[in-house]
Amino acid sequence: MNVDLRSYLNKLREKGELLEIGEEINLRYEMTAIFREVSGEQGGPAILFKNIHSHPQKSVAGNLLASRRKMALALGCDVDELRDTYLKKRFNSFDPVLWEGPAPVQENVIDRKPDLLSLIPAPLFHQGDSGHYLTAGALISRDHLTGEQNIGIHRMQLLDKNLMTVFLSNPPLSEYHREAEREGRSLPVAVALGLHPAEMMAAAVPLKKGMKSKMHLAGGLAGRPLPLVKAKTVDILVPALAEIVLEGELLPNVRKPDGPFGESSGYYFHAESPVIEVKTVTFRNEPILSLIPPWGIDTETIISTFSGAELWQELSRLIPGVLDVAFLPGALTFQGVVKVAETLSMQEIRRLIHLALNLDQRLKHVIIVDEDVDIYNPREVLWALATRFQGSRDLVSLEGMKGYVIDPSTENGEGTKMGFDATARPEGPYSDRFRKVALPQEALLKAQAIIEKARHHH
Ligand SMILES: Cc1cc2nc3c(=O)[nH]c(=O)nc-3n(C[C@H](O)[C@H](O)[C@H](O)COP(=O)(O)O)c2cc1C
Repeated sequence: MNVDLRSYLNKLREKGELLEIGEEINLRYEMTAIFREVSGEQGGPAILFKNIHSHPQKSVAGNLLASRRKMALALGCDVDELRDTYLKKRFNSFDPVLWEGPAPVQENVIDRKPDLLSLIPAPLFHQGDSGHYLTAGALISRDHLTGEQNIGIHRMQLLDKNLMTVFLSNPPLSEYHREAEREGRSLPVAVALGLHPAEMMAAAVPLKKGMKSKMHLAGGLAGRPLPLVKAKTVDILVPALAEIVLEGELLPNVRKPDGPFGESSGYYFHAESPVIEVKTVTFRNEPILSLIPPWGIDTETIISTFSGAELWQELSRLIPGVLDVAFLPGALTFQGVVKVAETLSMQEIRRLIHLALNLDQRLKHVIIVDEDVDIYNPREVLWALATRFQGSRDLVSLEGMKGYVIDPSTENGEGTKMGFDATARPEGPYSDRFRKVALPQEALLKAQAIIEKARHHH
């Protein structure tokens, strides 16, 4: 069986994690409103919109990675293996392979001035957005020198007819473009829409030394070599099992207004961005567009899975006793939580805070907690902060630090970073004063069985 977006949707369906909506949906704001309503704290189900106004025979899927449980389903591991699965596969994945025979993504080919807005059901996400955006488009291009292909998620705004802006701030694709622009040439690109969510995640991972390419990682995370096929009109190999592929050129020295667009930060963002001229659109029969709701939970799950793994690995090498790293929901990975062993002294925790805030530019607040706190449960983290932290003793504040430009409270990305030692010190978490209420394991297991049985009776 193929491993693609469709197989992932089937898996979600089997697990009861997919909400299928047959009611007609208008592209203006309605999808975002539905994502907002179902999301809640735990991320809510993935959604498949099957009936979209003026886009017959097309569907839209979203919220595909909006929980650690769904992320684990996409990577084919258990929730508590996410970190190690990612770290194992990072440098160690498959070479892509060529698809044999006609590729599904090329079942339909439109190569005469495609009209993007009528072909692709890209929504208007938020009030005040300047246009219809693709939020889960994976941009693929080739390094001019090495010929190696790379892939990254970049937001794109559909303009008139066959033009779209692309927000290109992160390397390496932004570098390929700069290089081409310097020489006055356009850069051949392809955009893959409707990838398997593990491939989406690979596209968002920053390219590291030792990683062959993100095409290799994409196959690795999805659990098989990535099948590629030659694009119809550009010299790029594209994922054969994507739902839709746009082929075209990133134009040199052209910029157009990009935004305002309600971003993953929860704020509107505006830029002047480069423009892609789309020459050809290919798609599967009854294509499914996937999207990532801006300021939704997928973005946090994607970034926190790889950032958390990387940060944990670096910190635990420097300080034995760093057990795990997670991030609080709501603001990308600005607020992190580090779980430490009881053996760490207050001085070592201080050192840990300085290291963490310096190693990860996005990290603005870091909370250190003990082993008895579930760091994936924000309620428990806030409980530790409320009951084990004293400002005069446990706060570390570092001014004039390089933060993240998309945090509107910074001055051009500069601001204050803080560390909160919310460990039970000096006595430790299992002392009388700090002992957390507990239940015996047998009672918990029995409770789970009783609840499960009661659910089945319904
Ligand atoms: C949901 C999501 C949206 C993103 N949007 C953008 C974007 O619009 N522009 C950008 O430069 N990077 C964006 N990123 C980050 C890039 O995907 C990431 O830095 C990637 O490594 C860039 O790789 P590339 O240069 O190979 O394309 C986004 C990441 C996620 C998870």
